[in-house]
Amino acid sequence: MKHINLDMVRVTEAAAIAAAEWVGSGDKKAADKSATDAMRERLTMIDFSARIVIGEGIKDESAGLFAGERVGKLSEQEPRYDLAVDPIEGTRPVGISGPEALSVLAVANKGSLFATPEFYMNKLAYGPQISEKIKLSIEDPIKVTIRKVSEVTGKEAGKIVVCLLDRPRHEKLVAELRAIGVKIKLIQDCDVSGAIATCLSDSGIDLLCGIGGAPEGVITACAIRCLRGDFQTQIVKKDGSITSKVLHIEDLVKGPCAFAATGITNGSLLRGVRYTPEGPVTNSVFMRSISGTVRWLTAYHGN
Ligand code: FBP
Repeated sequence: MKHINLDMVRVTEAAAIAAAEWVGSGDKKAADKSATDAMRERLTMIDFSARIVIGEGIKDESAGLFAGERVGKLSEQEPRYDLAVDPIEGTRPVGISGPEALSVLAVANKGSLFATPEFYMNKLAYGPQISEKIKLSIEDPIKVTIRKVSEVTGKEAGKIVVCLLDRPRHEKLVAELRAIGVKIKLIQDCDVSGAIATCLSDSGIDLLCGIGGAPEGVITACAIRCLRGDFQTQIVKKDGSITSKVLHIEDLVKGPCAFAATGITNGSLLRGVRYTPEGPVTNSVFMRSISGTVRWLTAYHGN
């Protein structure tokens, strides 16, 4: 993956700066178009040919970077890489100046990323502090999962923190978790950040579970592969039922990959874009699965 370097961060930085102009504007669509255009422009400067596997939803009337599009300076050539892009992961928080919005990009060799046709996935994410000792199963009842986490971490249930999206579809799961007595961190959006947090030992989050976006699931798999955690998913059908087949990280991203993200609004993972008299300042993370390096980058962009 010789082309996969800090150029990836330039792509998410550009998209985040473009999106940041629209924070609090109430205009999610304009924000998305602006971030998508900026992302495409930056991708065009990279000396490669790549195809978008996870892109923007045509259905959401997004401004492009759809699945199947080719990008890069050499886009006339046969693509060498698969890309999963989300110029704004968290369009709602951008519109209302809420927390946790990110611009994200994941890269893998051609043919490696799972081209999900569905809208939602059931997800289970946990970090290396657990995955190095035990393999959990998304098929287990949540009570069993929490017991196993308790055994390997030595934490009693009341000290285990589970993150999930605050959605009516999670009412039953929340009630089960309350009955077990764990702490629950309900997030309004952006389960990519929530899943990544499980792999960061100082985040205080042990598990992410519940149903979230399927494209975000593929992006999450790339990040968690780099972070040496574990991530399991099941496709959610249109009628809301969860399919029995479990998709593991290796099903979602087959080989080496890299992940870049830049904060748009302030979040637990990254600070959002700040404006200074000297120009915008961004905060990003760049990770590679081959080396396991995780780089936290603050960039001063100038005027
Ligand atoms: P967008 O960037 O498309 O707004 O997605 C944000 C997000 O919160 C994801 O992080 C999450 O996976 C998904 O939406 C959940 O979907 P829904 O809001 O339909 O429950």
